[in-house]
Amino acid sequence: MSATLKFHGHSCFSMAADGRRVIIDPFLEGNPQAVEGLADVGADVILATHAHSDHLGDSIDLAKRTGALLIATYELAVYCGRQGVPNVRAMHIGGTADLGFARVKLTVAHHSSSIVTDDSIQMLGAACGFIVTMGGRSAYHLGDTGLAADMELIGRLHDLDAAMIPIGSTFTMDLEDGILAAKMIGAKLSIPMHYDTFPVIEADPHEFVRRVGAEGLAGRVMQPGEEIELP
Ligand code: NI
Ligand code: MN
Repeated sequence: MSATLKFHGHSCFSMAADGRRVIIDPFLEGNPQAVEGLADVGADVILATHAHSDHLGDSIDLAKRTGALLIATYELAVYCGRQGVPNVRAMHIGGTADLGFARVKLTVAHHSSSIVTDDSIQMLGAACGFIVTMGGRSAYHLGDTGLAADMELIGRLHDLDAAMIPIGSTFTMDLEDGILAAKMIGAKLSIPMHYDTFPVIEADPHEFVRRVGAEGLAGRVMQPGEEIELP
């Protein structure tokens, strides 16, 4: 049993095992960190943590092109269905989807979920995070969130091989809270995300890795396009 984890830039990661790929927050087109565009990426399952453009990103186009199952919290899933996504599963925080080759659990995220256009703001329910288990490995993608006590419980209840933790501040946890989150979760590998894509979320991912290392935790700065084996 094994699985790989790939970083696509910003908060986009994909996990693959046995020829299947689950992609989280596929913000590819217009993502200054992404090295692969929408046309370069395949997926069997798409997980959207929330509707903000740097997370929902290309989910709808990717789902239409690939036929991948798109999972999101209820209102966003309904929205995506109305945009023509053929294969949608509406879920909510606490729920688990058993897809056979993968299990997907929705976790709490302290954040909003909306689509903002020039003349409207459409609220689309709650934001979430995801715990993805496939190939005998589990990864916890926190989504956009502030620090939450729930993270300690999640770490206690799940044997996590990796945690992807936002550190860029302004819209999410900052570096200090990200380190606290890494300690509370206690994953075998802590990976920073959601930094440096835009000027207001600048943070030093290497400091994050140094500081979690001082706490006895393994951390890793992934480069966009890099894919690692989860040991
Ligand atoms: Ni957001
Ligand atoms: Mn974001």
